[in-house]
Amino acid sequence: MATAMITGCDYGIGFELARQYADDGWRVHAICLDEASRRKLEALGEAVVFHRQDIADQAGLEALAARLDGEAIDLLINNAATFAPDGPGTLMLPDIDEFTRVMRINAVAPAYVAAAFEKHVAASEKRVIVFIGTRSGSIGDNGSGGHYAYRCSKAALNMVAKSVSIDFAPQGITAVVMHPGSVATETRKGNGIPVGESVAGLRNVIAGLTPEMSGRFLRFDGGEIEW
Ligand SMILES: NC(=O)c1ccc[n+]([C@@H]2O[C@H](COP(=O)([O-])OP(=O)(O)OC[C@H]3O[C@@H](n4cnc5c(N)ncnc54)[C@H](OP(=O)(O)O)[C@@H]3O)[C@@H](O)[C@H]2O)c1
Repeated sequence: MATAMITGCDYGIGFELARQYADDGWRVHAICLDEASRRKLEALGEAVVFHRQDIADQAGLEALAARLDGEAIDLLINNAATFAPDGPGTLMLPDIDEFTRVMRINAVAPAYVAAAFEKHVAASEKRVIVFIGTRSGSIGDNGSGGHYAYRCSKAALNMVAKSVSIDFAPQGITAVVMHPGSVATETRKGNGIPVGESVAGLRNVIAGLTPEMSGRFLRFDGGEIEW
Protein backbone atom coordinates (compact mmCIF):
# COMPACT_ATOMS: atom_id res chain seq x y z
CA MET A 1 0.00 0.00 0.00
CA ALA A 2 1.41 3.42 -0.97
CA THR A 3 1.63 6.01 1.80
CA ALA A 4 1.13 9.78 1.64
CA MET A 5 1.73 12.45 4.25
CA ILE A 6 -0.26 15.65 3.71
CA THR A 7 -0.05 18.86 5.77
CA GLY A 8 -2.99 21.21 6.32
CA CYS A 9 -5.76 18.60 6.13
CA ASP A 10 -8.25 20.45 8.35
CA TYR A 11 -9.99 22.04 5.38
CA GLY A 12 -9.93 22.77 1.68
CA ILE A 13 -7.41 21.22 -0.69
CA GLY A 14 -5.59 19.31 2.07
CA PHE A 15 -8.76 17.61 3.31
CA GLU A 16 -9.74 16.72 -0.27
CA LEU A 17 -6.24 15.34 -1.00
CA ALA A 18 -6.57 13.11 2.09
CA ARG A 19 -10.07 12.04 1.03
CA GLN A 20 -9.13 11.19 -2.56
CA TYR A 21 -5.88 9.35 -1.72
CA ALA A 22 -7.66 7.34 1.01
CA ASP A 23 -10.48 6.49 -1.44
CA ASP A 24 -7.82 5.30 -3.88
CA GLY A 25 -6.42 2.83 -1.32
CA TRP A 26 -3.49 4.88 0.01
CA ARG A 27 -2.50 5.05 3.67
CA VAL A 28 -2.60 8.76 4.60
CA HIS A 29 -0.83 10.56 7.43
CA ALA A 30 -3.04 13.64 7.73
CA ILE A 31 -1.41 16.56 9.53
CA CYS A 32 -3.91 19.00 10.98
CA LEU A 33 -3.59 22.13 13.08
CA ASP A 34 -6.74 21.57 15.11
CA GLU A 35 -7.67 18.56 17.28
CA ALA A 36 -11.31 19.25 16.34
CA SER A 37 -10.54 17.97 12.82
CA ARG A 38 -9.73 14.46 14.11
CA ARG A 39 -13.25 13.07 13.79
CA LYS A 40 -13.79 14.10 10.14
CA LEU A 41 -10.34 12.82 9.08
CA GLU A 42 -10.79 9.50 10.90
CA ALA A 43 -14.23 9.18 9.29
CA LEU A 44 -12.45 8.92 5.92
CA GLY A 45 -11.43 5.36 6.82
CA GLU A 46 -8.97 3.26 8.77
CA ALA A 47 -6.14 4.06 6.37
CA VAL A 48 -6.16 7.72 7.48
CA VAL A 49 -3.95 8.46 10.49
CA PHE A 50 -4.65 11.81 12.14
CA HIS A 51 -1.77 13.87 13.57
CA ARG A 52 -2.31 17.19 15.35
CA GLN A 53 0.84 19.09 14.45
CA ASP A 54 1.69 22.74 13.86
CA ILE A 55 4.12 22.64 10.92
CA ALA A 56 6.00 25.66 12.35
CA ASP A 57 6.89 23.68 15.51
CA GLN A 58 10.31 22.20 14.68
CA ALA A 59 10.60 20.06 17.84
CA GLY A 60 7.10 18.68 17.26
CA LEU A 61 7.94 17.78 13.67
CA GLU A 62 11.12 16.00 14.76
CA ALA A 63 9.20 14.09 17.45
CA LEU A 64 6.60 13.00 14.88
CA ALA A 65 9.34 11.91 12.47
CA ALA A 66 10.90 9.84 15.27
CA ARG A 67 7.53 8.21 16.10
CA LEU A 68 7.19 7.24 12.41
CA ASP A 69 10.78 5.97 12.22
CA GLY A 70 11.02 3.05 9.80
CA GLU A 71 7.82 3.98 7.97
CA ALA A 72 8.22 4.75 4.26
CA ILE A 73 6.38 7.82 2.89
CA ASP A 74 5.95 7.64 -0.89
CA LEU A 75 4.48 11.10 -1.27
CA LEU A 76 4.92 14.10 1.04
CA ILE A 77 2.61 17.01 0.20
CA ASN A 78 3.44 20.34 1.84
CA ASN A 79 -0.01 21.88 1.49
CA ALA A 80 -0.62 23.85 4.71
CA ALA A 81 -0.50 27.62 4.34
CA THR A 82 -1.95 30.81 5.70
CA PHE A 83 -2.86 34.29 4.44
CA ALA A 84 -2.77 37.81 5.88
CA PRO A 85 -5.52 40.37 5.29
CA ASP A 86 -4.43 43.59 3.55
CA GLY A 87 -3.37 46.53 5.71
CA PRO A 88 -3.45 50.32 5.11
CA GLY A 89 -1.50 52.51 2.69
CA THR A 90 -0.57 52.17 -0.96
CA LEU A 91 1.23 48.86 -0.38
CA MET A 92 -1.55 47.58 1.91
CA LEU A 93 1.02 45.84 4.08
CA PRO A 94 -0.24 43.81 7.04
CA ASP A 95 1.55 44.61 10.31
CA ILE A 96 5.08 43.31 10.45
CA ASP A 97 4.33 40.44 12.85
CA GLU A 98 1.59 39.18 10.53
CA PHE A 99 3.92 39.39 7.52
CA THR A 100 6.53 37.39 9.46
CA ARG A 101 3.97 34.81 10.61
CA VAL A 102 2.95 34.17 6.99
CA MET A 103 6.61 33.78 5.93
CA ARG A 104 7.19 31.35 8.81
CA ILE A 105 4.25 29.09 7.97
CA ASN A 106 4.27 29.27 4.16
CA ALA A 107 7.99 29.27 3.36
CA VAL A 108 10.11 28.39 6.40
CA ALA A 109 8.07 25.55 7.91
CA PRO A 110 7.83 23.48 4.68
CA ALA A 111 11.65 23.31 4.57
CA TYR A 112 11.62 21.83 8.11
CA VAL A 113 8.85 19.38 7.14
CA ALA A 114 10.98 18.20 4.19
CA ALA A 115 14.04 17.87 6.44
CA ALA A 116 12.16 15.97 9.14
CA PHE A 117 10.77 13.38 6.71
CA GLU A 118 13.70 13.10 4.28
CA LYS A 119 14.58 9.58 5.44
CA HIS A 120 10.97 8.35 5.31
CA VAL A 121 10.57 9.58 1.71
CA ALA A 122 13.99 8.26 0.67
CA ALA A 123 13.03 4.82 2.02
CA SER A 124 9.86 4.66 -0.12
CA GLU A 125 9.21 3.34 -3.60
CA LYS A 126 7.89 6.56 -5.25
CA ARG A 127 10.03 9.17 -3.42
CA VAL A 128 8.07 12.33 -4.26
CA ILE A 129 7.76 15.67 -2.42
CA VAL A 130 5.21 18.23 -3.62
CA PHE A 131 5.14 21.82 -2.37
CA ILE A 132 1.75 23.42 -2.98
CA GLY A 133 2.60 26.89 -4.21
CA THR A 134 0.61 29.36 -6.26
CA ARG A 135 0.84 31.44 -9.41
CA SER A 136 0.88 34.41 -7.00
CA GLY A 137 4.36 33.27 -5.97
CA SER A 138 5.71 33.64 -9.52
CA ILE A 139 7.82 36.79 -9.95
CA GLY A 140 7.62 36.54 -13.74
CA ASP A 141 3.83 36.29 -13.68
CA ASN A 142 3.28 39.18 -11.21
CA GLY A 143 1.26 41.75 -13.13
CA SER A 144 -0.79 43.25 -10.32
CA GLY A 145 1.37 43.68 -7.18
CA GLY A 146 -0.25 43.61 -3.75
CA HIS A 147 -0.68 40.75 -1.27
CA TYR A 148 2.94 41.14 -0.15
CA ALA A 149 2.98 38.57 2.64
CA TYR A 150 1.35 35.80 0.61
CA ARG A 151 3.26 36.51 -2.62
CA CYS A 152 6.65 36.83 -0.89
CA SER A 153 6.10 33.70 1.20
CA LYS A 154 5.19 31.63 -1.84
CA ALA A 155 8.08 33.03 -3.90
CA ALA A 156 10.38 31.96 -1.05
CA LEU A 157 8.67 28.55 -1.00
CA ASN A 158 9.63 28.19 -4.68
CA MET A 159 13.28 28.62 -3.70
CA VAL A 160 12.92 26.04 -0.92
CA ALA A 161 11.40 23.55 -3.36
CA LYS A 162 14.03 24.15 -6.04
CA SER A 163 16.88 23.68 -3.55
CA VAL A 164 15.25 20.56 -2.07
CA SER A 165 15.00 19.12 -5.61
CA ILE A 166 18.78 19.56 -5.93
CA ASP A 167 19.82 18.51 -2.43
CA PHE A 168 17.60 15.39 -2.29
CA ALA A 169 18.42 14.26 -5.86
CA PRO A 170 21.14 11.86 -4.65
CA GLN A 171 18.45 9.99 -2.67
CA GLY A 172 16.34 9.69 -5.84
CA ILE A 173 13.71 12.09 -4.51
CA THR A 174 11.64 14.10 -7.02
CA ALA A 175 10.49 17.50 -5.69
CA VAL A 176 8.19 19.97 -7.48
CA VAL A 177 6.05 23.04 -6.78
CA MET A 178 2.42 22.84 -7.88
CA HIS A 179 -0.25 25.51 -8.39
CA PRO A 180 -3.68 24.02 -7.60
CA GLY A 181 -5.61 26.55 -9.73
CA SER A 182 -7.99 29.12 -8.34
CA VAL A 183 -10.08 26.90 -6.10
CA ALA A 184 -13.42 27.53 -4.42
CA THR A 185 -12.69 26.10 -0.94
CA GLU A 186 -14.69 26.67 2.27
CA THR A 187 -12.29 29.42 3.38
CA ARG A 188 -12.09 31.04 -0.08
CA LYS A 189 -15.73 31.24 -1.02
CA GLY A 190 -16.51 32.64 -4.44
CA ASN A 191 -15.18 32.01 -7.88
CA GLY A 192 -12.92 29.11 -8.67
CA ILE A 193 -12.91 25.53 -9.78
CA PRO A 194 -14.41 22.90 -7.47
CA VAL A 195 -11.86 21.52 -4.99
CA GLY A 196 -12.46 17.96 -6.24
CA GLU A 197 -11.45 19.00 -9.77
CA SER A 198 -8.27 20.72 -8.58
CA VAL A 199 -7.24 17.73 -6.47
CA ALA A 200 -8.01 15.22 -9.24
CA GLY A 201 -5.75 17.28 -11.52
CA LEU A 202 -2.97 17.51 -8.92
CA ARG A 203 -3.12 13.74 -8.35
CA ASN A 204 -3.01 13.04 -12.07
CA VAL A 205 0.12 15.20 -12.53
CA ILE A 206 1.75 13.73 -9.39
CA ALA A 207 1.13 10.19 -10.68
CA GLY A 208 2.99 11.06 -13.89
CA LEU A 209 6.03 12.71 -12.26
CA THR A 210 9.45 11.39 -13.27
CA PRO A 211 12.86 12.25 -11.78
CA GLU A 212 13.58 14.37 -14.89
CA MET A 213 10.68 16.66 -13.88
CA SER A 214 12.20 17.42 -10.47
CA GLY A 215 12.62 21.13 -9.75
CA ARG A 216 9.73 22.28 -11.95
CA PHE A 217 6.82 24.64 -11.17
CA LEU A 218 3.70 22.91 -12.50
CA ARG A 219 -0.01 23.67 -12.73
CA PHE A 220 -2.71 21.24 -11.60
CA ASP A 221 -3.51 20.58 -15.27
CA GLY A 222 0.09 19.73 -16.11
CA GLY A 223 1.14 23.08 -17.64
CA GLU A 224 4.30 24.85 -16.48
CA ILE A 225 4.55 28.23 -14.70
CA GLU A 226 7.49 30.62 -14.98
CA TRP A 227 9.41 31.26 -11.77
N1 LIG B 1 -7.62 27.92 -2.77
C1 LIG B 1 -6.97 28.45 -3.78
O1 LIG B 1 -7.55 29.02 -4.72
C2 LIG B 1 -5.46 28.35 -3.85
C3 LIG B 1 -4.81 28.93 -4.95
C4 LIG B 1 -3.43 28.80 -5.04
C5 LIG B 1 -2.72 28.13 -4.06
N2 LIG B 1 -3.37 27.60 -2.98
C6 LIG B 1 -2.57 26.89 -1.98
O2 LIG B 1 -3.15 25.62 -1.74
C7 LIG B 1 -2.91 25.22 -0.39
C8 LIG B 1 -4.23 24.89 0.29
O3 LIG B 1 -5.07 26.03 0.19
P1 LIG B 1 -6.59 26.04 0.69
O4 LIG B 1 -7.30 27.01 -0.15
O5 LIG B 1 -7.10 24.65 0.85
O6 LIG B 1 -6.39 26.72 2.12
P2 LIG B 1 -7.15 26.52 3.49
O7 LIG B 1 -8.56 26.06 3.26
O8 LIG B 1 -6.93 27.75 4.30
O9 LIG B 1 -6.34 25.30 4.13
C9 LIG B 1 -5.04 25.47 4.61
C10 LIG B 1 -4.86 24.45 5.70
O10 LIG B 1 -3.57 24.63 6.31
C11 LIG B 1 -3.75 24.57 7.71
N3 LIG B 1 -2.70 25.27 8.42
C12 LIG B 1 -2.47 26.61 8.50
N4 LIG B 1 -1.40 26.86 9.28
C13 LIG B 1 -0.94 25.64 9.69
C14 LIG B 1 0.12 25.24 10.54
N5 LIG B 1 0.93 26.13 11.11
N6 LIG B 1 0.31 23.92 10.75
C15 LIG B 1 -0.50 23.00 10.18
N7 LIG B 1 -1.54 23.33 9.39
C16 LIG B 1 -1.76 24.63 9.16
C17 LIG B 1 -5.09 25.23 7.92
O11 LIG B 1 -5.60 24.92 9.20
P3 LIG B 1 -6.62 25.99 9.88
O12 LIG B 1 -7.71 26.21 8.91
O13 LIG B 1 -7.05 25.31 11.14
O14 LIG B 1 -5.83 27.25 10.07
C18 LIG B 1 -5.89 24.59 6.81
O15 LIG B 1 -6.33 23.30 7.12
C19 LIG B 1 -2.16 26.38 0.26
O16 LIG B 1 -0.77 26.13 0.20
C20 LIG B 1 -2.53 27.57 -0.61
O17 LIG B 1 -1.56 28.60 -0.57
C21 LIG B 1 -4.72 27.69 -2.84
